[in-house]
Amino acid sequence: MRVALPGVARSGDGFGFRFDGRDCVGFPGESLAAALVAGGHMALSTTARGDGRGVFCGMGVCGECTVRVDGQTRRACMMAAAPGLVVEAMPARAEPAPPAALPAAQALACDVLVIGGGPAGLAAVQALAATGLDVVVIDERSRPGGQYFKQPGAGFAVDPARLDAQFGEGRALIAAVAASGARVLAGTLAWAAEAAGDQVAVHAQGPDGPLRITARRLIIAMGAAERPWPMPGWTLPGVMTTGAAQTLLRSGAVAPGRRVLVAGNGPLNIQLACELLAAGIDVAGLVEQAPWPFTRPAAALAMARHDAALALAGIGQLARLARAGVPLLFGHALIAAQGDGRVQRAVAARLTAGGLAGERAFAVDALCIGAGFQPQAELARALGCALGWHDGAAVVVRDDDGRTSQRHVFVAGDGGGLGGARAALAQGALAGLAAAADLGAAADAARVRQLQRQLATARGFQAGLWRLFAPAHAAPSVATAQTMICRCEGVTFGAVDALIADGPADAGRIKRATRLGMGRCQGRYCAPLLANRLAAAAGRPAAADDLYAPRPPFKPISIAALAAAADPP
Ligand SMILES: Cc1cc2nc3c(=O)[nH]c(=O)nc-3n(C[C@H](O)[C@H](O)[C@H](O)COP(=O)(O)OP(=O)(O)OC[C@H]3O[C@@H](n4cnc5c(N)ncnc54)[C@H](O)[C@@H]3O)c2cc1C
Ligand code: FES
Repeated sequence: MRVALPGVARSGDGFGFRFDGRDCVGFPGESLAAALVAGGHMALSTTARGDGRGVFCGMGVCGECTVRVDGQTRRACMMAAAPGLVVEAMPARAEPAPPAALPAAQALACDVLVIGGGPAGLAAVQALAATGLDVVVIDERSRPGGQYFKQPGAGFAVDPARLDAQFGEGRALIAAVAASGARVLAGTLAWAAEAAGDQVAVHAQGPDGPLRITARRLIIAMGAAERPWPMPGWTLPGVMTTGAAQTLLRSGAVAPGRRVLVAGNGPLNIQLACELLAAGIDVAGLVEQAPWPFTRPAAALAMARHDAALALAGIGQLARLARAGVPLLFGHALIAAQGDGRVQRAVAARLTAGGLAGERAFAVDALCIGAGFQPQAELARALGCALGWHDGAAVVVRDDDGRTSQRHVFVAGDGGGLGGARAALAQGALAGLAAAADLGAAADAARVRQLQRQLATARGFQAGLWRLFAPAHAAPSVATAQTMICRCEGVTFGAVDALIADGPADAGRIKRATRLGMGRCQGRYCAPLLANRLAAAAGRPAAADDLYAPRPPFKPISIAALAAAADPP
């Protein structure tokens, strides 16, 4: 459903394209995923078991929006809708389309390469601007901004005076980076990295073909992806992450449905519920695992001490939802999604010391789940950076300035461990200054101290925030034996548990036996779930070594890009 956003307007006429033989309408600036969702096309691909899948992550990670566009395999959330496209839903096993040509990889060299144009990456580039170093920043999206500063698509007319503060702050930072002299390569996806003598080499695929970028310092700022919340029905079209719904809304002015339940754990769900409400959507309810926040004054005060304005903004959001009569179910967990071909019902239950009690069902046509985040650490892992394990996922061991165990590699922002947008901005800038200092730029000690204070403040706020959002009773697993652990390959928890019960099991054995982790998301969702399951079965804490060995390509690329990498320039 198309909606209106303050300060953002569709600037051009609608245009036609085809999806599975049906006429569809898109507007300039919409992603293909947004145009399809606006037209009510929720199932975009099919699994080997014949189940339909639709937009799930909205950020190029899950691969479930994969479609054929004019014969080429594309992720609908990562490309723009355009007039005349012929789009087909992706079958489970499709013959790969032959590459149109096999271009040679273009070689690019720079002093500092930044991967990721979110708050951390943009802040790093801004900090590097005055140093005279040759800086390249790449991002797989068509526009920089990352998650926090994502902007309306290029075809929207924007009235800066009416934009919300988050849009406005991002717009200013993106403009500063554009004027910084750095080379900004949008639509450029990093899919492998390796040490290259005294440098780092990154393989990427850009709009004009494959690239091999060598850099004296690498700053990885790839952000986080949403943590999975496996439950019966979580693969139904119309069930998507909170971030996916927010991207449809903020970048494409499209709502995921007319009646939407938002559920999970954390403040982003509250923000999305408010944004949907403001766009005129019927918010069926907000289901939050943590107890009602006003029962935890100490955590709220800790947040207010570090950032009073942000804490007040949170209270304002809750008040808005309550005034609008949105059911606010604190201390509840989502336990199932149900529907025929797409989600039609969501079920939640109260969390108690003894487990779940008192189910409540909601009629919906979309369900947004936000259960926290996990860092996208795969490139750092491939480069041999030391890793730890925190809150169910791998994190990068690093200093405040993002410096890792590998001399040439920094990891800034949520891609190394979660800290939120304010911490990402401060750490990105610190990483930029540290990389510059490594390469001989004069150190600015006063600026470093100021950024370290900002980082400490942001971390203090986050610590209070997550104390506020800690569930009073841990949500038990609601996955049944039939629930998918591997969404891509249709592997169930039952199949995995049977293998674990059958004898010594490790991730590699389970992968070979079931194909778990071999699908389009390349294990991004199922690998941490499996690592935690294996560790629990063995009665020990999980660790990064419980994940599969990192293997490029880390994101889907064309055969042409792979062939070009095998024959480096
Ligand atoms: C889905 C989602 C929605 C969020 N919404 C909010 C919100 O509304 N409010 C809030 O306070 N916080 C929000 N957060 C948290 C907040 O956005 C983050 O804390 C902050 O954006 C982190 O900044 P970052 O630069 O580390 O990462 P990001 O902002 O995530 O930026 C990472 C960038 O790296 C790029 N990238 C990733 N992999 C590759 C690759 N292989 N090749 C090239 N580019 C790549 C991505 O396209 C992205 O632009 C959200 C987080 C997520 C994951
Ligand atoms: S929805 Fe497009 S890759 Fe996940």
